[in-house]
Amino acid sequence: MVRHLITSALPYANGPIHFGHVAGAYLPADIYARYLRMCGEEVLYLCGTDEHGVAITLRAEQEGMDFRSYVDRWHGEIKELFDRFGISFDIWSGTARCPHHAKASRRFFRVLLERGFVFDRTDDQWYSESLARFLPDRYLQGTCHECGFEQARGDECPRCGTWIDSIRLGDPICTIDGSHPVLKQTKHWFIDLPRLQQEGLQKWYQGDDADHPHGPWKPNVDGHVKAMLRDLQPRPITRDLPWGVPVPEELDGAEGKVLYVWFDAPIGYLSATMEWAEQQGDAEAWRTWWQSDDTRMVHFIGKDNIAFHVVVFPSMLLGQGDAWDGAPFLLPWNVPANEFYNLQGRKFNTSSGWYLDNDSFFSQYSADAARFYLVTTLPETADSEFTWEGFQNANNALLADKFGNFASRVLKFADKRFSNRVPAAVGCFDHDPDLAAADTALGEVGPHIRAFSFRAAARSLMLACDRLNQFFDGKAPWKLVRSEDPQKLQACADVIERCIAYLELLSRRFAPLCPGAAAQLRQMLGEAANEADASCWGDEGQGNAPARIKQNSLLGAAELLFPKIEDRAVAAEIARLEASD
Ligand code: 2FM
Ligand code: ZN
Repeated sequence: MVRHLITSALPYANGPIHFGHVAGAYLPADIYARYLRMCGEEVLYLCGTDEHGVAITLRAEQEGMDFRSYVDRWHGEIKELFDRFGISFDIWSGTARCPHHAKASRRFFRVLLERGFVFDRTDDQWYSESLARFLPDRYLQGTCHECGFEQARGDECPRCGTWIDSIRLGDPICTIDGSHPVLKQTKHWFIDLPRLQQEGLQKWYQGDDADHPHGPWKPNVDGHVKAMLRDLQPRPITRDLPWGVPVPEELDGAEGKVLYVWFDAPIGYLSATMEWAEQQGDAEAWRTWWQSDDTRMVHFIGKDNIAFHVVVFPSMLLGQGDAWDGAPFLLPWNVPANEFYNLQGRKFNTSSGWYLDNDSFFSQYSADAARFYLVTTLPETADSEFTWEGFQNANNALLADKFGNFASRVLKFADKRFSNRVPAAVGCFDHDPDLAAADTALGEVGPHIRAFSFRAAARSLMLACDRLNQFFDGKAPWKLVRSEDPQKLQACADVIERCIAYLELLSRRFAPLCPGAAAQLRQMLGEAANEADASCWGDEGQGNAPARIKQNSLLGAAELLFPKIEDRAVAAEIARLEASD
C-alpha cells in the first residue's frame, strides 16, 4: 500500500494568516489527510513556519525585535488559527527551530555544488557604508526602470508590477536609514536550473521518468510550469543577511551570507520529517518517507508557490542524486495548487481591516460550518471568495436544513416512537431509488477527495442528504406508525432502522470535512455508532448499503448539529467590514 507524505506550504512567521490561506493550502490538505487515515493508509502530514528571509528580517528590524523572538511570536499565533480550524498536522515545526534544518539545508547546498549544479559568480550589489552591509532587494527603494515610479521596491514595482533586479533601480535609498548605497562587488551562488532541467527535471515533469511517477497535473499548475520550462534561468540561492542558514563556512566568500529563503524553506519538509522521526524514537524513519518508491509526496500550496514546488524543489531533490547514503529522493507525486481566495470581492488585508477577526468569528460560529463553507467555495480552478451571505447559506440551507435536519427528524422520531432504541428491521430496500442514489453519491465522496476535487465531495454529501430526506418524506413513517396494520408498523421500523444506518454512515463520510459535527453525531447515535469504527471509511456507499444496525441499540440524546445564523448577524458582520473601508 502506498504511504502519503502530505505537506502544506510553510507560512511565513511574519504576520497573521487568514481564511484565504486556510482555503488555499491547509483545509484541502487536512481533508485529504483525514480521509486517507480513515482508509487505513499511512499518512504523515507536515507543516511549520517559514522563518527566514528578507521580509522577516525587515519587519523584525522595523519593530525593534530580535529575529528569534519575532519568529517565535508568529510561530505560536499562526498555530492558534490552525487549531481553531482543526487542522491535523502530525508535526508543526519551523525552519529556525527544527534541530535538523540548517544541517540538512547545507548538505543540499554542498551536494549540488559538488555535482556542478551550483556555481558562484561575483557581481555588483548595493552596499550601505553607514550600516557596513550589503542590502538585499527589499532593503532598497528607488525608481522603477519600467514606469518611472519613484518608490519602487528593490524586488518589485508596486505600480506596474514589474519584477525588478535591484541593481537596475534608479537613485536607490536604503529603507533602514535612508542613506544612499554604493555598488560593491560580492560573490553569490546560483542554482543551475537549465542543467537540472536537462538532467531529469523535464523528463520527470512530462511523465517520462519511470522511477519518479506523478499524478495528473492540475490545469492551472500545468499552464504555469510549461511556460516557465520554456525559458528556465539560473537563480541566485544566497543572500547577504544576518539571519538564515549560513552558507557553508569552508567556502571562500561565505562570510555574512545565508541561503536564500526559498532554497531552505522546502527543505523544511524534509527536516520536519527528521524531527518527527526522532520524536517517534526511530531517527532513521524519515528515509521511508523520502527515499522509498511507495511513498507519494503531495504538496498543497497557493498558486504563487507553484514554481518553487514543481520546478525548483524537484530540481534540488534530483540534483542530490544518490549522495544521501546511496538512495535518491522521491519527487512530488502531485502539487494540487489552488488559486486565490478573497473576502467579499477584495483581497484579505489584515492591516486595512479587510479580514475576519478570528476571536470574534470562532466565538460565534463553528469550525465545521467554516470548514464546510470554505470547501464549497475552494479556489480549485479560479479565484473565489468568502461572502457572509454565502457562509450563512451554506450553514443554514445546506448543513442545517439538509444534514442537521435529517439527523434531527430521524433521532427525534426514534426517541418518541421506539423509546430511543434501534427498532428491529426485516425489510429490504435494495431497489429503493432514493437509497440507491444516496449510495452512489456517498460512494463518490472518497474518489473525489483522492482526486483533489473537494468541492465535488461536498456536493456529493449534500446530494446524499437530499435523497435521504426524500426517502424519509416518501416513506412517511409518521403515517405508518399510526396504522394498526402490523405490516405497516413493521415498515415504519424498517424505515427508521435504515435512516439510523445511513446517519451512522454520514457521520463517517462527513468526518474529513466536518470532524466536530461528525463526532457529535456519533455521540447522538449512541450504541448505534459503536459498532462501526469511527475512524473507518469502509466500502458502504460504493453501491453498497450500510449494514444493519443491531436491534435495540440505545441511541444518545439528539442535539442541534448546526444552529442557524440569523440575518441580523450577517448584516452586522458586513457592516463591520465596510466600516473598516
Ligand atoms: O508563500 C509562502 O508563504 C512561503 N512561506 C511558502 C513556503 S512553502 C515551502 F517551500 F516551505
Ligand atoms: Zn514600475
